[in-house]
Amino acid sequence: MLNPDEAHTDSMMKPPALLLHVLVLVGLTLVSVFASATQPLASERERVLVHMVRQDCGSCHGLTLSGGLGSALTPAALAGKPVDGLVATIMDGRPGTPMPPFRGILSEAEAYWIIDQLMQGFPADRGLASQGAQR
Ligand code: HEC
Repeated sequence: MLNPDEAHTDSMMKPPALLLHVLVLVGLTLVSVFASATQPLASERERVLVHMVRQDCGSCHGLTLSGGLGSALTPAALAGKPVDGLVATIMDGRPGTPMPPFRGILSEAEAYWIIDQLMQGFPADRGLASQGAQR
């Protein structure tokens, strides 16, 4: 039902525009998938997270993270466990256990960073710098 002019315009204009949309969408998807796992954090935020893990997580997992009410979070204890599952535990907690969800407090990228650090041996708390101490 298209008149020949319209059909012509469609075939000339739409494929490139559609292709561009698809490329942009694929690109954005890749960027967000990649970013959620590997985006570097600002060093100031890393300092805040180290302090938070040592203090808040440490209140359950032990000040040396070697276990308390919560299980040990040492490299030895976490070795071989699936990273995605550990990140999910931080984001959503463990229903039926005292492990609370941190979604809304931590981003997924931050949870990946924390697990990564825990698996390598968590850095010492250097306290909070004057900026960014309060979230
Ligand atoms: C209120 C106490 C509490 C706090 C606060 C807490 N946890 Fe937990 N967490 C637990 C308990 C209890 C478990 C064990 C759950 C189970 O029995 O499966 C656990 C389990 C985990 C696990 C899974 C360990 C494994 O070997 O499977 C990770 C990872 C974890 N916590 C990280 C954190 C991090 C990071 C924080 C701070 C952002 C945190 N937790 C704060 C109580 C806590």
